[in-house]
Amino acid sequence: MRMERASQRISQVARVVTDPSVAAGYCTDFTGRWRGSTPLVALPGDTAEVAEVMRICAEEGVPVVPQGGNTGLVGGGVPMGGEVVLSLRRLTGLGPVDVAAQQVTAGAGVVLSALQRHVRAAGLDFGVDFAARDAATVGGMIATNAGGERVLRYGTTRANVVGVEAVLADGSVVSRLGGLAKDNTGFELPFTGSEGTLGVVTAARLRLVPLLERRATALLGLPGVPAALEALAVLRSLDSLEMAEFFQPEGLRLVRGHTGLPSPTREEHAVYLLVECAAPRDPAPELHAVLESLHASEVVVAADAADRHRLWRYREAHTEAINARGVPVKLDVALPLGELPGFLDDLPSLVGGCELYLFGHLAEGNLHINLIGGQDPTDAVLRRVALSGGSISAEHGVGRAKTPWLHLSRSPAELAAFRAVKQALDPRHLLNPGVLVP
Ligand code: MLT
Ligand code: ZN
Repeated sequence: MRMERASQRISQVARVVTDPSVAAGYCTDFTGRWRGSTPLVALPGDTAEVAEVMRICAEEGVPVVPQGGNTGLVGGGVPMGGEVVLSLRRLTGLGPVDVAAQQVTAGAGVVLSALQRHVRAAGLDFGVDFAARDAATVGGMIATNAGGERVLRYGTTRANVVGVEAVLADGSVVSRLGGLAKDNTGFELPFTGSEGTLGVVTAARLRLVPLLERRATALLGLPGVPAALEALAVLRSLDSLEMAEFFQPEGLRLVRGHTGLPSPTREEHAVYLLVECAAPRDPAPELHAVLESLHASEVVVAADAADRHRLWRYREAHTEAINARGVPVKLDVALPLGELPGFLDDLPSLVGGCELYLFGHLAEGNLHINLIGGQDPTDAVLRRVALSGGSISAEHGVGRAKTPWLHLSRSPAELAAFRAVKQALDPRHLLNPGVLVP
């Protein structure tokens, strides 16, 4: 009854979708693992409409799942309890690039690749980049504190946000879009990384970085992860190093089968390390000099931009190739670099009979453990990660998938503080119930 009344009221203040065949696209995640349902998808066109929708939901006591590009991988943006979906996709406003301040204001629904085109036209760039750039949105990236392929140089999304505008659970709006680099007037409200549980991000003031168009990219074939870590230690002497991504032969075979691409190397290797340098001046000579000192089993150097994108594809197509193989259990974890070899030695026995596809962001010790078939080994793997001082979620968030294991990475005092913040900002648990906060 309350849901019906809320739906009716929301449809008077914002565009909505109620046709189940259209709404279905907002109810299933990219992997197909999370399949929910909703009576209504609200598609507000500006912050005022988002505030109206939230005010109605608060008055009617109706729960809401905020959603961006729906590229999440932990069930954090899927209405698993029949909630209203609040899609921010229509908030696509992009302000002028402030070249002097190196900032821009972007609506929550701006897709990452659109943001990149906009700021690159002004000679600047955004420091966060990853494979889902054509679908992931600014709001979703902030809500999940997205990481990606350039964290080693520019940090995660958190480091690239100056201020956020958000709508709170009661429909009030809090806005910090002024772009002041210095503003110590109290603490920051913790929207970044809150996974839509504390407020609905509607816009952000983003920090930009210089556009570095001179790039040098290489794919290294190496005998194992210890050799890849040794190579990384040497590569890190390069100020221009921007990317150090790894994958393994099992994933590469899947990608090749899925894309039809030929082998990138003459021989098969235990580990492939994709590295990229970017600088105002051509970074190729310094990269090549370091590569020669590394004794890699094989090195393939990109000849031009097209070749660079071809090499990226071997790494970036892993997600879609794995999804095409089956519905995966995805464990996105981070370990201290020194713990990686020991953890990887133990991993095959922990995952039992599952097919294992491993890739990730080497510089942050961020492993994407993808498992298909067999018994779900999540508990054993995450406990082993915690034993090594790792994190049960490096960059995908906690969502619904990891809430039962959050205590492995966060202390009782921290979890109590999480609950207190949630209670203060969303006392009736209307925002993304069941996600992140236990
Ligand atoms: C990636 O690094 O490509 C993303 O985190 C997606 C994934 O893990 O599948
Ligand atoms: Zn990743």
